[in-house]
Amino acid sequence: MKDVKVLLGDITQSECDCIVNAANKTLRGGGGVDGAIHRAAGPGLLAECIALGGCDTGEAKITKGYNLKARYVIHIVGPVYSGSANDAALLEKCYINALDLAKEHDLHSIAFPAISTGIYGYPIEKATKIAVDAVKVWKEKNPTYPIKVDFYCFSERAYAQYVLTLKNTKY
Ligand code: APR
Repeated sequence: MKDVKVLLGDITQSECDCIVNAANKTLRGGGGVDGAIHRAAGPGLLAECIALGGCDTGEAKITKGYNLKARYVIHIVGPVYSGSANDAALLEKCYINALDLAKEHDLHSIAFPAISTGIYGYPIEKATKIAVDAVKVWKEKNPTYPIKVDFYCFSERAYAQYVLTLKNTKY
């Protein structure tokens, strides 16, 4: 798909207009990519997050990027994998809502981590397909809005899975 890339590396180094944080409902930081983003952004990010008053699973909220190269951080809360049918719908909502919010703020490049595939236990094979399909559906619904999408992988395994999934997805 045009302007969709898979990268292996640390999302805090992304120069996209916004990077997506796999947060939790409190929006008060955590481990994984959440911890890395808060460490790189500095204390201003947490202060702004606290003022947001939390975030529901599947929802997206935006803050400034502070010390990050990215101007904004879009915080989403992925589903904790449970194997229920609702997991996939909630995970897809994270990607759709993040892209909608980026469009609302006239942002034209976005970096996603592999949401829910770490602490929240979502199997990478399933999560990657949901992520790639969600971006495809969103772009088909927003054909006149140009936005570059970078999928940031933190492991060779996730990277290989994204590359395979993108290759098998008809665009
Ligand atoms: N850059 C890119 N990807 C990263 C980075 C990083 N610096 N650090 C971790 N990741 C990857 C993980 O390898 C995983 O593939 O991000 C993906 C998501 O993993 P988590 O960060 O564990 O997020 P998630 O599974 O969505 O769980 C969210 O973890 O950190 C807490 O506060 C967070 O409670 C929330 C939960």
